Formats: sequence, C-alpha cells, structure tokens
Amino acid sequence: MTHGEPNPLESPVGAGRRFPPSAEFTAQANAHPELQAWAAADRLGFWADQARQLLSWGTDFTEVLDWSAAPVAHWFGDGRLNACYNAVDRHVEAGHGDRVALHFEGEPGDTRTITYAELQREVSRAANALVALGVQTGDRVAIYLPMIPEAVIAMLACARIGAVHSVVFGGFSAEALRTRIADAQAVLVITADGGFRRGSATALKPAVDEAVGSPAGAVGPVDGADHRGTTARNVLVVRRTGQDIAWTPGRDVWWHEALEAASDVHEPVLVGSEHPLFILYTSGTTGKPKGIFHTTGGYLTQCAYTHLNVFDLKAETDVFWCTADVGWVTGHSYVVYGPLVNGATQVIYEGTPDTPTKGRWWDIVSKYGVTILYTAPTAIRTCMKWGEDIPGGYDLSSLRLLGSVGEPINPEAWTWYRRVIGGDRTPVVDTWWQTETGAIMISPLPGISSGKPGSAQTPLPGIAADVVDEEAHPVANGSGGYLVLTEPWPAMLRGIWGDPQRYADTYWSRFPGIYFAGDGAKKDADGDIWLLGRVDDVMNVSGHRLSTTEIESALVSHPMVAEAAVVGASDETTGQAVVAFVILRAEYLDRADEIGEGADVAATLRAHVTKEIGPIAKPRTILVVNELPKTRSGKIMRRLLRDVAEHRTVGDVTTLADSSVMDLISEGLHTPPPT
Ligand code: WT7
Repeated sequence: MTHGEPNPLESPVGAGRRFPPSAEFTAQANAHPELQAWAAADRLGFWADQARQLLSWGTDFTEVLDWSAAPVAHWFGDGRLNACYNAVDRHVEAGHGDRVALHFEGEPGDTRTITYAELQREVSRAANALVALGVQTGDRVAIYLPMIPEAVIAMLACARIGAVHSVVFGGFSAEALRTRIADAQAVLVITADGGFRRGSATALKPAVDEAVGSPAGAVGPVDGADHRGTTARNVLVVRRTGQDIAWTPGRDVWWHEALEAASDVHEPVLVGSEHPLFILYTSGTTGKPKGIFHTTGGYLTQCAYTHLNVFDLKAETDVFWCTADVGWVTGHSYVVYGPLVNGATQVIYEGTPDTPTKGRWWDIVSKYGVTILYTAPTAIRTCMKWGEDIPGGYDLSSLRLLGSVGEPINPEAWTWYRRVIGGDRTPVVDTWWQTETGAIMISPLPGISSGKPGSAQTPLPGIAADVVDEEAHPVANGSGGYLVLTEPWPAMLRGIWGDPQRYADTYWSRFPGIYFAGDGAKKDADGDIWLLGRVDDVMNVSGHRLSTTEIESALVSHPMVAEAAVVGASDETTGQAVVAFVILRAEYLDRADEIGEGADVAATLRAHVTKEIGPIAKPRTILVVNELPKTRSGKIMRRLLRDVAEHRTVGDVTTLADSSVMDLISEGLHTPPPT
C-alpha cells in the first residue's frame, strides 16, 4: 500500500439529510424488516432458504456451507443445478414464455424485443453450436462483444453446457484480450465484426485476429515466451455492423450460420453448485490482472436475492435497466444473472448516453417505461454537468427506484439523482460491492431504510461487514478504518484462476481469517457505513477499476520511457483520473526539452497505453519530470505525487531519499500541459 490511511474523519457534505421511504413504497416493498432478524438468528438457514426459494435445483443440497478449506468456500456443495435453466427455461415452463426478457436498443436506433420463449430457443441454438465446435463442460470461452443481445445469449449458452465464460470488455485492447485468453486457456472466442459507438461503427474482429494470432503473418512472441491466445481453436463472429473483416477459413465461423445450422432444443447440463460459472479479470495492485472466478449455486442465490430485495423487483410489472456493459461484473450480476433468474423484463442499450443527443438515456426510459434504473455516479455527475433541462424534457414518471454503484456517490450527486431523475419521490440505493463479492453486499433496503445521501449504509441481511483498525478491531461509531467482510457469503469469489496463493495473499493476509476489501470506510454516529475509496494501488475511474502498476508497466514498455509513476487524482466527473509522471530516457531528453511537456510526448504515450490496455486506461495528464520521489528503499511515494496532481501542498517528505525532488517536480508544473 502506498497512500496508507484513508482519511475517514473528513465529514462528507450533506451528511445530515435523511429521506424516509414513503408509506406507499413501504406497503408494497419486497424487503421486510424481519429479514435482518431472521438472518441474524440463523445465517446459514437464511441462505439455505433463499437458495431454495429463488432457484430451481436439479438435486437439492444437504450442506449449506463448508468452510473447512478456507479461504475457499463451498456453498450448497452437493446440490446440482444449471444457471441457464434458472435464468430462462423455468420461466417458460411456468407459463411466462411471452414475457419480454430483453428490450434491446442499438445505438443507431435499431431495436429487438426478445421474449423468454425466444431467448430459450436462441440460447439452445447457441449451446448446440458451441457443442458442435467441440466446446465441452469445463472449457473456457472468451467473449469479446459489444452490448448486443448476443452477448447475453453467448454467456447463457456457455452456462447451459457448463462451459466457463470469460467476458473481456470490448474496450480492452488486443494485448489485454490476448493475455486473458492465454491465462484462461480459452478454446473459443466469441466476438463481432464490430459495434456502434458515438455514431460510428468501431471494429472488434481485428483485435481478436491480433490476439489469437492468425497463422498468416502472425506477430511474434513479445517477451520470448509464447503468450498468444493460440489456445483458441475457433472464433465465432456475430455480424453486427457489416463492415469488412479479415477471415481465417477453418478457424472463423459466422455466429448466424452456426446458429441456423443448430437445433433450437437443448437439454441444459446439470452441474455441481461449485462448478465454475465464469472468470472475470479485474485489476489488482500488481501489473497482472486477476482472473476472479465465481461458481454457480451461491453466486446465483445472492444475485437473485439482492436483485429482488435491493431493487424491489416485481417481475410482472417492472422494467429494469442496468446501464453497465456485460464486460464488467455489474453486467454479469445485474444484466444477466440476477434479473433473468428473477424473470425480469429489462432494457439493454448498446451505445453512449450522448448519442445522438444528450437525452438518449431519458428517451429510452420514457420509451420503454423503465421503472428501476441502476447506474454509476460518474454518469450521474456527467448528466448534472449537462444540466437538468435535458432530462427535464422527458417523461420519467415511470421510474420508481434508482440505484448507484461503482464508486462513492457524493451527496450532491445523490440528491440531484433523486430530485431530477427520481422526481423527488424514488428511493435511491447506493450499493457497495466488488467483482470479488459477486453481488451487492452493503446497501439500504428500499421501503425500510431512510436514505442517507453519500452512504451505502448497512450490510444486507445475511452479510457480515465491518470497519476495523490496523489490528482488526472494529472501530467505534464516528471513526474510520478498513472495510472487511467477517463471514463467508454465497457469491464470494472462489479464487484467482490458476493462482490460489495470490488469492490467499491478496484478500486474507492483511487481517488473518477475514476478507480485506481494499477500501477505506467510516462508521457514522448511527453506525452507517460510508465508503472512502481504495487504500491500495487501485484507482477508480468512472467506476472502472484500474491498477496504477499496470499502467506504469504499460508506460515503461515504451522505448521513450525510463520510469513512470501513476496516481489517481480526484476528478469532478470521473471520480478519479489517471495522472502519469514519466522520466524519459536520456536519448529522448533533448527532444523533450525542445517540445516541453507538450503534446507530442503525451499524445504518443497515451496512444501507447491505449494499445497496451485500452482507451479506459489512457492517462488524462502526462507530466514529464526529471525525478520521482522515492523512499530510501526505492519505493515511489505516490501519496506525494497525488498531492501534486490534486494541486495540494505537498505533504510530509521526511521519508524521501532526496527531499528536493518534490520542489523540482512542483516547479515544473506551474502550467499543466494540455490534456
Ligand atoms: C470497487 C470494486 C461492484 C461493481 C462495480 C465495481 C468501489 C463499488 C461502490 C459504492 C463506494 C464503491 C470500491 C470497490 N465501489 N461500489 N457503492 N461506493 N465505492 O466493481 O470493478 O470490482 O470495483 O469499486 O472501491 O472496492 P469493481
């Protein structure tokens, strides 16, 4: 950890205001006040009941939790089920085949409505197509798609045959895709020719060609070892944009052709509750992303439970819209598994909120009558910046509940969201969780909790979380420390793919026996929890998790760069922004003097980071410096660089090997370079 203590005692603005639920909302709410007492009295019995009520099991389980192999949990271990059957088939069998599962809205304005019965036929065809391509139960399949229905169908088709999906966000580079395919040894990649974004067709297939390494003219190994995604035997390609793409015969297969040739009947494969459902890579504190993997029964139980109680879902009448991409965990749990297991009707949208106009989201809300909206603070702050006249021009009266996720929501954004989008009437739920936790852990319960802007408030019934000090002692109300989870929970990760030691070290060694989330938090006078941001080298940019070390590695892989230090500086819209300090190699220094800290170096390096990781990781600001502040043991003091990047007086420099370097850096920064 570099920047040490969170600053828990800083009092957030607007902390005092409470928003009690209306009597009407409470009267119809799914969540009941007894949930908490029930879960507290018999936690495992409570989860067993949730698992049996919310899911259909092929074989019931006899044991709820086996924690004897801690920190790897086994939930409902001897039960058997199929995730896709739970998300699709059983709703058709229950007579809801005509209910809309997905209202798809493409960015160019094309739409598709898919009922549960249609979804069942589509996923069955896709499952048969995967089998025809030789994909077996337990194999890994990489999915690299835009936000189109095929992304949902592909995930479900994998689950249907017991294959493990590894979705890679379409905004990641070929290089990032390659390492993920190689790490999981995926046998198949499902992609598209491209997708629509900001008004034009962007390509995806070329990145797959580069990552998988087409036999003709393939790029050589980067670092001597062959890390290419050559384990992938086939590439299944959805035609979305119709743009021209390169084709490798024998390897590449069109999705529509494979599905046309396949039967629309497929028997879902029953798997054990602990069978892996998916791997999802996320940034950690080192350069190498972690393949977080989740299993079936516990994960689905908690997704369904939270989706039902936190979002108050009424499957018959609600229209749910989670704006996340399936490339992130939010899309896994609250676009695919939670809503579909609960038989919900939902909206998925391919594009950005400002295409073709800044009213696009609100147009979608009114068009489909969205009742529950789940999005990230960065999107809310962007809308605030655009002004309330834009949402004001649409009928948003269908909305009855609003959710927030991904980063702390500042009280101003919370109250704006409720007033402008929620018409001063909707509950707002600020939900804390992580890729690792699989599902929501801390959140108000609508209809029960009085909303408190800026606070995620309380652990859900059945979840044990606390804020502790350095010695793992719970802090008193009014104090801050580290957020921990003190009991295993059903949707918890089961490990880091292929690296059990890293799993134990990362999450279970800081406080032995309890899970360390990496977040700072405080308890207020009521004992409610306020999240204060990461206390490790992980940044949160627009609700996306990025590793400082990973971006530093990308920067130093450019021949121009000798050394790099990256920090997350606070940013009004994106929460944090990537700011990089770089030392150029001697042979480039003269040139750097010539062009100052200006555009060329920064533009080159930003493009390089985009290529290595993806556009989301591209630094907002790159500052060329001559020195970096280091401790005597050679560790870069990112805390001081953050002070500089956030225009604060530089803090304590006494542990620096050379305390004059901060003066040099600050001097060089009088005029921030263009971004
Ligand atoms: C990190 C996890 C969970 C889905 C999206 C992000 C931050 C998440 C909140 C919240 C404050 C939050 C934490 C966490 N975070 N939700 N409601 N309030 N911070 O998943 O990419 O795994 O990132 O996001 O720092 O550790 P992720």
